[in-house]
Amino acid sequence: MGKWVAASFLVLGGALVVFLFIFRNPKQEEALLTTGEGAVIFAQTCAACHGERGEGRRELGNPLRGRALPLAYTKEVIRRGRNRMPALPHIRGEALENVARYVNRLP
Ligand code: HEC
Repeated sequence: MGKWVAASFLVLGGALVVFLFIFRNPKQEEALLTTGEGAVIFAQTCAACHGERGEGRRELGNPLRGRALPLAYTKEVIRRGRNRMPALPHIRGEALENVARYVNRLP
């Protein structure tokens, strides 16, 4: 009898682990971004408004390419937002550094 109780706990526990694994992060967008290539972060987060290559998208976001924007300035804009640009404080640490560097070098 005890064997069956133990077995069912094992099965239920296994099912729970599988469930948590599958549904671990339903809100990818809001996950804290602390690492990653600048290009990847730019494509995921900035391109929608600033264009795939930073060329700008009319009223959504102005052009960023070819301007060698200072890292500190870009980081500040991301952290605090600016006029119609929302603050994106979930981008931090290495990710913030990488995306600022990427924007700075957009040809
Ligand atoms: C929801 C749209 C949107 C998103 C997403 C967005 N931006 Fe912006 N961004 C804007 C707008 C609009 C402006 C212009 C703000 C203004 O009027 O001063 C702007 C301005 C900027 C500026 C200042 C440019 C200048 O001319 O001084 C920088 C730098 C910048 N964005 C970088 C980024 C980066 C890097 C990301 C991604 C991490 C990003 N933005 C995501 C809309 C967006």
